[in-house]
Amino acid sequence: MSKPIRGYSDIPGWFWWIDRQLFATILDAQADSAPGVLVELGTYKGKSAVIIGNHVRPGERFVVLDLFGRTELLTDTAADRANRTEAERSYATLDRLTFEQNYLALHDQLPEIIEAPSTAIVESVQPDTVRFLHVDASHLYPYVREDARNAKSMLRSDGVVVFDDWRGEHTPGVTAAVFESVFADGLIPFALTPTKFYGVFGDPEPYLTVVRDLIKNDDRVWGEEQEILGRQVPRLNLIKQKEAPKGTMSDADIDRISERLITKLGPALNGLRAT
Ligand SMILES: C[S@@+](CC[C@H](N)C(=O)[O-])C[C@H]1O[C@@H](n2cnc3c(N)ncnc32)[C@H](O)[C@@H]1O
Repeated sequence: MSKPIRGYSDIPGWFWWIDRQLFATILDAQADSAPGVLVELGTYKGKSAVIIGNHVRPGERFVVLDLFGRTELLTDTAADRANRTEAERSYATLDRLTFEQNYLALHDQLPEIIEAPSTAIVESVQPDTVRFLHVDASHLYPYVREDARNAKSMLRSDGVVVFDDWRGEHTPGVTAAVFESVFADGLIPFALTPTKFYGVFGDPEPYLTVVRDLIKNDDRVWGEEQEILGRQVPRLNLIKQKEAPKGTMSDADIDRISERLITKLGPALNGLRAT
C-alpha cells in the first residue's frame, strides 16, 4: 500500500526545486494569455503534474499521459521492446490509481488522463493549441524524437516545451533528439537547468525576460548565460536556501541532497529511484 499523501513532498518523483520555480514562473507569465491546453507526457506519480495543475485556468484542458505500468500497450518493435525494458526497470511500482490519489490529495479535480504511449497524444490534442508541454515519458531517442516533432505541431506560437533529462549520461537519446530539434526544426532554448531544457518554436524574448528576472531577483537562484547558435541562453540552478530553523529541512534542502546523491550514485540508482 502506498504512503498517504499529506503534502507535496510526500509524492515520489524527480522534480527539483529550480524546475518548480521555473514552471511556476513560466506559467505565471502566461496567466493573461488566451486559454490553451496544458500537457504532460510521462506523469509517474504526479509530482510535476500537481505543480502544472496549480496553473490550469477555467475553460482550459490539462491532459496527462502515461503508460501507468501498462506495458502491454507497447508493440513488439525493437524501439517498443527497449521502452518496455525501460518502463519495467524504472517505474515498476506505478499504477494509475496511485497517480489519481496523489493528484486528488492536492487538487479538487483530476486532469484528463490518457493511458497510452506518448506518440498517441496527437489523437487527443489539436495542432497549435498547447501553451505548456512537459515531455518526461520515455527517455529513449525514437520516442523523444517523435515527442519533439509532436511538440512543434501541438504548441501554439507562444507555447513552451520542457524536456526532462536533456543532459544525463544515462539519457543520450534525449540529448540527441532535443538538439536535433534545435538544429533542424527551429527549437530555441531560453532556459537550461541541470535536468530540464526549456524552449519555444516562437519568440523566446518574453520568456528570456522572466527567466532573467528570476535570476536577478531571487537570491536562491544562480545563473549565467552562454551562446548557442548566436543566442544567449541562461542556465540556472539553486545556490542556497535561506536560513531555516535548526533541525528543519525545506523542500529545497531535500532536493539538493537528493540531487547530489543521484549525481554521485548515478546509473547505479536506475530502477531504485522513487520506489
Ligand atoms: C521520469 S517518469 C516521469 C516523472 C514525473 N514527470 C515527475 O516529475 O515525477 C517517466 C514516466 O514516463 C512513463 N513512460 C515511459 N515510457 C513511456 C511512453 N513511451 N509513453 C508514455 N509514458 C511513458 C513512465 O511510466 C513514467 O511514469
